[in-house]
Amino acid sequence: MQLKIALLGGDGIGPEVLAQSVKCLKAIEETFNHRFELVEAPFGAIAISGSGKPLPNKTLELCKASDAILLGAIGSLEYDNNPEAKVRPEQGLLRIRKELGLFASIRPIKMFPAFLGNSPLKRNIVENTDMVIFRELTGGIYFGQKTLSEDGTTASDLCTYSEGEISRITHLAFKSAKKRRKKLTLVDKANVLETSRLWRKTVTEISKSYPDVEFECLFIDNAAVQMMLNPRQFDVVLTDNMFGDILSDQGSVILGSVGLLPSASAGIDNAMFEPFHGSYPQAKGKNIANPVASILSTAMLLQHFNLNEEANAIVAAVHKSFVKKVVTADVLGSSKYGTDYVGDFISENIVESDENQSINDENIGLGKSTII
Ligand code: IPM
Ligand code: MG
Repeated sequence: MQLKIALLGGDGIGPEVLAQSVKCLKAIEETFNHRFELVEAPFGAIAISGSGKPLPNKTLELCKASDAILLGAIGSLEYDNNPEAKVRPEQGLLRIRKELGLFASIRPIKMFPAFLGNSPLKRNIVENTDMVIFRELTGGIYFGQKTLSEDGTTASDLCTYSEGEISRITHLAFKSAKKRRKKLTLVDKANVLETSRLWRKTVTEISKSYPDVEFECLFIDNAAVQMMLNPRQFDVVLTDNMFGDILSDQGSVILGSVGLLPSASAGIDNAMFEPFHGSYPQAKGKNIANPVASILSTAMLLQHFNLNEEANAIVAAVHKSFVKKVVTADVLGSSKYGTDYVGDFISENIVESDENQSINDENIGLGKSTII
């Protein structure tokens, strides 16, 4: 297969972790005989210093002309600490989502048995957690009209959703549930919000076309509690933009390190893949960042193009790194391995899938070894 992939390293540790994903893509290219055209472009705070814009037009054009985008991370302390800043790296992320119509953020939260002890929650609660959050990404309060009164003392953010926006992600979520454990939980605040009532009505109607999928609704406050008390009860979680932002970060706590979690943002014509974690500026250039979230995001990219064997080869190599304890210090305090070394190990262990089977000696709860 021939794919053009835009590489947006971005800020902080973004370029370092992305470099490890590139090693994996090159290994896949060689092993499975594909052709990946990889093109780098500036994005985020680094792009603001160059051109004044977090998403320069050239970068946007490249993304539109590509089959997929791999993003490192964006965000910088310079902007986080300055509420007066008119231009912010995050605006680039929101714009790219909107311009490319990336309406579904897919965020799998799957426990790795090798790191059960890392969770701040009890083992018996977190073990075998395997859920995927479908977060609506281009609507709601993030994109509604914003106002600030002239005297600067009153502000508002409008939350709007249309039936169409709700139904397109709902179908994706139900289709995913059908292939998984056949349960879908809609998370909303329908006891208070009009938009949530529209979500509930629309999703309930659509649920009738997926009779084999168990469908339930939870209020966001209760869902947040349930996720900590009994995360195994969740399979597919469907929710709006704001609730999904919060719930996915909360869910990442289950694993004990945000450095392990990948994500995909999908639209009709394009898709972007990025780690859950932020730009972690304190670690920039220190060769300590965990590259696994970025590498697993790369596996999700391959899966998106139905390159399942290839995606599984990456996942198997990641699991091998866990078994051999070739991991960064965020997941194993005593580890001496850095970002680069872990990236080299994983990319060098990407071999054809027949061999993958034998690597997986401890079969670390891989399930079908797909990511979502
Ligand atoms: C995320 C991030 C972004 C969001 C920020 C960086 C704008 O938190 O992808 O979850 O809120 O969507
Ligand atoms: Mg977030």
